[in-house]
Amino acid sequence: MLKNKKIGFIGGGNMAEAILKGMLSSSLIKASNIFVSEPNKSRQTFLTTEFKVKVVKGNLDLVKKADVLIVAVKPQIIREVLKDIADQVDSKKLVISVAAGVPISQIENALSKGKKKKLCVVRTMPNTPSVVQEGVTAITAGKRVGKPDLKISHEIFQAVGRTVDVSEEQIDAVTGLSGSGPAYIFMIIEALSDAGVKMGLSRQVANELTVQTVLGSALLVRETGTSPGELKNRVTSPGGTTIAGLHALEKGSLRATLMNAVEKATLRSKELAH
Ligand SMILES: NC(=O)c1ccc[n+]([C@@H]2O[C@H](COP(=O)([O-])OP(=O)(O)OC[C@H]3O[C@@H](n4cnc5c(N)ncnc54)[C@H](OP(=O)(O)O)[C@@H]3O)[C@@H](O)[C@H]2O)c1
Repeated sequence: MLKNKKIGFIGGGNMAEAILKGMLSSSLIKASNIFVSEPNKSRQTFLTTEFKVKVVKGNLDLVKKADVLIVAVKPQIIREVLKDIADQVDSKKLVISVAAGVPISQIENALSKGKKKKLCVVRTMPNTPSVVQEGVTAITAGKRVGKPDLKISHEIFQAVGRTVDVSEEQIDAVTGLSGSGPAYIFMIIEALSDAGVKMGLSRQVANELTVQTVLGSALLVRETGTSPGELKNRVTSPGGTTIAGLHALEKGSLRATLMNAVEKATLRSKELAH
């Protein structure tokens, strides 16, 4: 579906790079069908030499060339950027935003500039593992987005990991869980590695053991489809080492702490959106 479409990235920073890299490495689209509008000269050079995509003169030029617009600028400037291109955007273009905390209604308003316009806007919330094509992106579609456009949106983000459909009201919870989640896991990885060092392992060995344990455990949950609770029970023998470790985690309120973290981050995301 995406093969014959022209994709335009407004902003060629980290997130745009991750997505276009994923699309190209999964042969979803040819580099000649990807256009990027990016003010930073060194980024322009990097994107054209590394990925052979076309860097265009400005956002208006980009809008004229692209069927699908991926808006990948910082949330602070998105409204201004959208207002500048508004006259060139109609219902034939699919507009996909990756900007955190910017509701579909605000995107539609900025692109309408007071006029009544039918616009196809999709809002997404990707996360940083997208850079290594292991991200997860929550997708929510505006009222006028049809099934083909929703399918295109999933195809794009499946190039950098997995996708889920959510309602827009759930986006703050997504931000609290998978958006902020990589930082929670980095902290857990760092702590486990420190613990290994404390118990006499070298940093290199402790890191290797920790990262592979986290990765392998996640894959085991996904590939067996077994609940994490059941998998935990299977490795917990009576009076053994694992139950002793689990008891320490319960004493430290690991589960309640992680639930609190997701709750706090979700509430903060709601606060920032207002
Ligand atoms: N990175 C993530 O993991 C992540 C996760 C979820 C959502 N997001 C969302 O993705 C969006 C982009 O984030 P990012 O991390 O990729 O930021 P970034 O690396 O700063 O990329 C934004 C790019 O847009 C360029 N830009 C600035 N003004 C522009 C304009 N008027 N027209 C076109 N391009 C312009 C910037 O150039 P200059 O540097 O010269 O200003 C920069 O290269 C944000 O809205 C963020 O909320 C990111």
